[in-house]
Amino acid sequence: MENALQGKRILLGITGGIAAYKSILLLRLLVQAGADVKVVMTPAARQFVSPLVLATLSKQPVLVELAEGDTWANHVMLGRWAHLMLIAPATCNTMAKMAHGICDNLFMAVQLSATCPVMLAPAMDEDMWKHPATRRNIQTLAGYGYQVLPVATGALASGLHGEGRLLEPAAIFDAVQSFFSHSQRLKGKKAVVTAGPTYEPLDPVRFIGNHSTGLMGIEIANALAMAGADVTLVSGPTHLQALPAVKTIPVQTATQMLAAVQEVFAETDIAVMAAAVADYRPAVVADQKIKKANDELSITLVKNPDILAYCGAAKASHQLVVGFALETNNELLHAQEKLRRKNADLIVLNSPNKVGSGFGSATNEVTIITADSVTEWPMASKHEVACKLVNLVADKLERLQF
Ligand code: CTP
Repeated sequence: MENALQGKRILLGITGGIAAYKSILLLRLLVQAGADVKVVMTPAARQFVSPLVLATLSKQPVLVELAEGDTWANHVMLGRWAHLMLIAPATCNTMAKMAHGICDNLFMAVQLSATCPVMLAPAMDEDMWKHPATRRNIQTLAGYGYQVLPVATGALASGLHGEGRLLEPAAIFDAVQSFFSHSQRLKGKKAVVTAGPTYEPLDPVRFIGNHSTGLMGIEIANALAMAGADVTLVSGPTHLQALPAVKTIPVQTATQMLAAVQEVFAETDIAVMAAAVADYRPAVVADQKIKKANDELSITLVKNPDILAYCGAAKASHQLVVGFALETNNELLHAQEKLRRKNADLIVLNSPNKVGSGFGSATNEVTIITADSVTEWPMASKHEVACKLVNLVADKLERLQF
């Protein structure tokens, strides 16, 4: 197999935890595989691992302070230099700072200005790992498009036994290798992704919407970008953000979403319609706030344009169109019918009845439906589902074009 790490520029971020000793071995594995690695550490990490060892192994100066003597470390260019920022170990404290954008050292300045994808391997004690604050910070970091690796279970620095150990260097190395081996599969391809809800206004202050957070669509846009595609994300209202490499077009309504997709569709190779588009919108949008006058209020709704059906009808033979289906009964039959009716190449079927799936969940258990196959995928994080879907799309695209 071709070495996926040869010539890749990796910024290895080391934060202050006991597990930092493992980053020496990780650095060695990365360098041996041909990667060009620069190390940036937090001041606390210096207490756990010597910059001299890291500088010797990486053959590069190790960066800790924003300014040393009269030299200023250019944190912006470091983040732009790297193909990947890998943070291992990522402590509870640094993860919290990353989630909230607290910039109090060089490491954080580099992290916050990095435009490259970010992968982190957390390490902490089990109670800290399970604390709701840490859970929420991890959700936030995943929402930024960062790949958060799992932790291992075993002996912890506290003397306790449980979850929170840093993954072994070989396992982190494998994750980096798999990141790079898929990273250029879609180079030269263009993709459009829809995500999030649509808000259909009733009057200047009210709308009809739904609980979609946009996470699934944003993870797909990020995974496509990491696979080398040039991605446009047309996103309904969400507080989540895609990677800087993704061109995001924010919209509110289904009509605006269709217009934005129509603008780019002819140029794209891949269209993934993951938005939870409102099927109907109010026929009339009141100019002024609707006053409560009567005991009942009727609102006439009219059908919204179907964006997935538009892509299915307009697609040329080299284009691949992926839709989603959220069904509560006769799931498979309805999803297969949707595939045919909307002329999609692939439907990702979600079931809100499954625990850990659907709106607001960080995980998803989906079934992949094509004209001649039905494949159930096990429950996984939305990030993993997105990566797997992008690989499948890349396989299918290769078959379409050769
Ligand atoms: N979709 C779309 N535009 C719409 C409605 C849906 O692009 N106006 C897309 C969604 O992004 C998703 C797929 O169609 O990829 C499935 O949407 P869903 O609402 O489940 O299907 P509908 O066609 O609306 O059918 P029904 O409501 O009858 O289940």
